[in-house]
Amino acid sequence: MPEIIVFGGINMDLFAYIPRSTQEGETIQATSVEFFLGGKGANQAAASARLGAKVSFVGTIGQDQFGIDVKKLISKENIDISKLSSSRDQTGVALINVLKNGRNEVIAFPGANKQTSSKLISDKKLKSCSIVIGQMELEESQTYNLFLRAKKNGCQTILNLAPFKTIKKQLLKQTDILIVNEIEFSGLTRRSSKKIDLKFVENNFSRLDLPPQIKLIVTMGEKGVVVFAGGIKKYFPSRKVKAIDTVGAGDCFVGALGYFLLNDSDIFSATHFAICASSISVTRKGAAESMPSIDEVVKIL
Ligand code: RIB
Repeated sequence: MPEIIVFGGINMDLFAYIPRSTQEGETIQATSVEFFLGGKGANQAAASARLGAKVSFVGTIGQDQFGIDVKKLISKENIDISKLSSSRDQTGVALINVLKNGRNEVIAFPGANKQTSSKLISDKKLKSCSIVIGQMELEESQTYNLFLRAKKNGCQTILNLAPFKTIKKQLLKQTDILIVNEIEFSGLTRRSSKKIDLKFVENNFSRLDLPPQIKLIVTMGEKGVVVFAGGIKKYFPSRKVKAIDTVGAGDCFVGALGYFLLNDSDIFSATHFAICASSISVTRKGAAESMPSIDEVVKIL
């Protein structure tokens, strides 16, 4: 069975559901506070696994209570965590405010995530796998080393450039599919704009000077998704839903895209599938916790 390896961050997410953003120096009351499994890597692994993919998650937790808690939470998902390592650093933590309209503010402390080594994944393991997914919560050099070996071993590589960081060209050269949201896209262009919409993306795509093999996907929340692949540009509108919590929606998109591509290489159909999956995740609380099952996605395809 083809397999996905997700090499990425795992965090304890502390969610506060709040009526509005706070001002500096102000205290407001949350309507509820909840703890969820998070970290972009763990969320993406959960998204692919809940859809039915064979998934291995490779990351690092600390030897603290949060480490014990997140390990328990990820163990409930159908994910191989035999390469989940531990370090003396603190487990990664994200402080997340979710506003009434489902939008969020996230502050993430990487902690132990930064100790994750690409050596945890052998060439033998890469040979048996089809897709490797990475994000930017680990050290860039480790993701680069892994992608380099992944390509040599015939895997497809997906890089989610989140949280945004200006990266070296060498990592992009080893990337088949690059996924960014609109803010990360503007970071890539080194241009800021008050309005980052489809027009901004279309007008600035050529400035990126990406290596030719890369397929670029730009997710823009309710403004839809645009894909640039093999000289073709295709726009997909979003699905209209009542969002209550958008945390992890981008991760759901990445995990669902990876799941789809295991059996069908059509990036455009994969994008449609991933949009449907993430439109379900925003109607639920939590990050990894909000990922849908395959039956739920198939119903709305
Ligand atoms: O993408 C959402 C994730 O970003 C959260 O789960 C949080 O842990 C941060 O890593």
